[in-house]
Amino acid sequence: MPTQIHGMDERKTTCKVTFTPEGRTIECAPHTNLRALAIENDIDLYNGIAKYTNCEGMGLCGTCTVEVKPSGAVSPKGAIEKFRFIQLKGNLRLACQVSVEGDIEVKKYEGIYGTKGYRQDVAGSDVAKAYQEGKTVEEIASEKELHPGKVMVLLEREGVATRRPESA
Ligand code: FES
Repeated sequence: MPTQIHGMDERKTTCKVTFTPEGRTIECAPHTNLRALAIENDIDLYNGIAKYTNCEGMGLCGTCTVEVKPSGAVSPKGAIEKFRFIQLKGNLRLACQVSVEGDIEVKKYEGIYGTKGYRQDVAGSDVAKAYQEGKTVEEIASEKELHPGKVMVLLEREGVATRRPESA
């Protein structure tokens, strides 16, 4: 049985990267840097003045942010991206920090950072199920990269009665 890396077959030799809104699909070798791939193929990775003021892939400016799906087909978030947890919710990634490991879809949103209009795709039913299976609000928030308050709102919308926190 072949070894799996981030859900990718170890023997995979070509990855397909589809950029939107351009609607272009580009093939690349596994472990290709996403920012480099976009630039080499004239994909607009930056909005507005960030085209000229970005940090050129150092992971400092945050303006190369894109949505990447599925998250298991790229390298996991490293320390630089985890530090930007408020900006990089859900599937948002810094293209300069992403290594392509499988077939992915990449979407650039509006705004200087490319996050304007992004809505995290979390189903309330999934949150309710996790809670009913015994996970805490904090555990669900961490797992799904949500604010704990958002988890509470989703639970309320799903009609789930919340447990009282245990007294110390
Ligand atoms: S280019 Fe600046 S963070 Fe990626």
